Amino acid sequence: MGSSSPPTSFLKFLLTSSLLLVSVTCGVQGAGRKANTQLHFHTLHFSSLLPAAVCTPSPAAAGSSKRPSTLEVVHRHGPCSQDKPSTAAPPLSQILADDQSRVDSIQARLNPASNTNQLNPNKNKFHDKKANLPTQSGQSLGSGNYVVTVGLGTPKKTLSLIFDTGSDLTWTQCQPCARSCYQQRDPIFNPSSSTSYSNISCSSSECAQLSSATGNDPRCSSTTCVYGIQYGDQSFSVGFLSKDTLTLSGTDVFPNFVFGCGQNNQGLFGKTAGLIGLGRDPLSIVSQTAQKYGKYFSYCLPSTSSSTGHLTLGKGGASRNVKFTPFSSSQGTSFYFIDIIKISVGGQDLPISQTVFTTAGTIIDSGTVITRLPPDAYSALSAAFQQQMKKYPSAPAYSILDTCYDLGNYTSITIPTISFTFGGNVKVDLEAIGTLVAVSSTQACLAFAGNGDDGDVGIFGNIQQHKLEVVYDVAGGKLGFGTGGCN
Ligand SMILES: *[C@@H]1O[C@H](CO)[C@@H](O)[C@H](O)[C@H]1NC(C)=O
Ligand SMILES: *[C@@H]1O[C@H](CO)[C@@H](O)[C@H](O)[C@H]1NC(C)=O
Repeated sequence: MGSSSPPTSFLKFLLTSSLLLVSVTCGVQGAGRKANTQLHFHTLHFSSLLPAAVCTPSPAAAGSSKRPSTLEVVHRHGPCSQDKPSTAAPPLSQILADDQSRVDSIQARLNPASNTNQLNPNKNKFHDKKANLPTQSGQSLGSGNYVVTVGLGTPKKTLSLIFDTGSDLTWTQCQPCARSCYQQRDPIFNPSSSTSYSNISCSSSECAQLSSATGNDPRCSSTTCVYGIQYGDQSFSVGFLSKDTLTLSGTDVFPNFVFGCGQNNQGLFGKTAGLIGLGRDPLSIVSQTAQKYGKYFSYCLPSTSSSTGHLTLGKGGASRNVKFTPFSSSQGTSFYFIDIIKISVGGQDLPISQTVFTTAGTIIDSGTVITRLPPDAYSALSAAFQQQMKKYPSAPAYSILDTCYDLGNYTSITIPTISFTFGGNVKVDLEAIGTLVAVSSTQACLAFAGNGDDGDVGIFGNIQQHKLEVVYDVAGGKLGFGTGGCN
């Protein structure tokens, strides 16, 4: 009877899979089975993957004025952004191309040896540091998709800044724009009309910290400290290192906040006034506000460009059911490294050796759109997804996305849930919107891509973080994931 065993288990497998499918599509739901199927599959309408035309602020964000350290997060080109209609969203192909530039830049910083496309091959020093990020920030949705509004100076002036967990120095364009300022929506900050503004001197400790915060040694203009930060290609900001009062809300006011007052700014940062750096370096906003917020922040990235999310500094906003994974030992002082233990698709673990994930490690990044996996992990993911999506006609690859489907003829689609298990056995089920990205009105692709090389760092990107409450307990050395973060 030994020979009957494999067919039996195969049958069982088939039976179980089809039962799961049937119960979803026909709505047969015993209590237990419902929980089970909800875990392993998502059923959705294709239209839910498409962007909406009107802004629907989330309840959490709408109530944000009651949570002092909570800032509303909007997608830069969506209907909730005040930029509309002057800046249309760039085409998805451009977003994905820019996303690849950002990823190349991160990987060049973390793995200079394997990268032949270095930004500044003549300057070794540059490569040990981590400043040239984010690449082309703000050129498109691809990097710096998410924008928050803060106040700077006395009286305070309102500025919309891209927020970025992948860099440290906060900067804004400053008058008189001695060399160059790009167009921004808010009036350009004028230090001479702020009574609390001061220049930082070359001999100060803050000036010395620029080397690690930006990857570039500071310069001097008479006695004023001069910073320079470049984000790959032609995006950069150069100016005076300064202090002024940063206002995050009526009660959360930070005198002497160190930031860059940009006199020469270029690159396509959209119409934002600059960038807010949420990395781990001493000059980042996380470190500078440590006394008040304890190096603790959380965010929820809105699931679509037509809704809003939040960025909350301090513990106030941490939601229920957050599970924490330890940050893994990291390289440099900026990026947040985490460990992927396994990935499952529709409840089945992918056969991936653990060393595949440990070779180069993984960071979580607010600015990278599409999650990047080691080559072997991506092939296993794509194969398992295709296996479970066999009922849908496949479609040609789109840009960096190669696992695509033609879904135009389906009113309702059922897709396997992709789950990541991180160190500490923290399992995160991705939303449907974190699994498929619509590339046209009829086609959608698996929202993941493979790295070119085993030595390239993996990146847990922002599409996959949609709707999750993501908690950075930097002081406690751990990262939390919760559900319903934008509710
Ligand atoms: C800051 O330093 C620059 C360069 O030395 C100088 O031009 C500017 O007037 C200074 N601003 C203030 C407010 O001291
Ligand atoms: C969608 O349905 C139409 C009409 O039945 C058919 O001609 C077309 O081939 C279908 N497309 C796909 C991708 O199945």
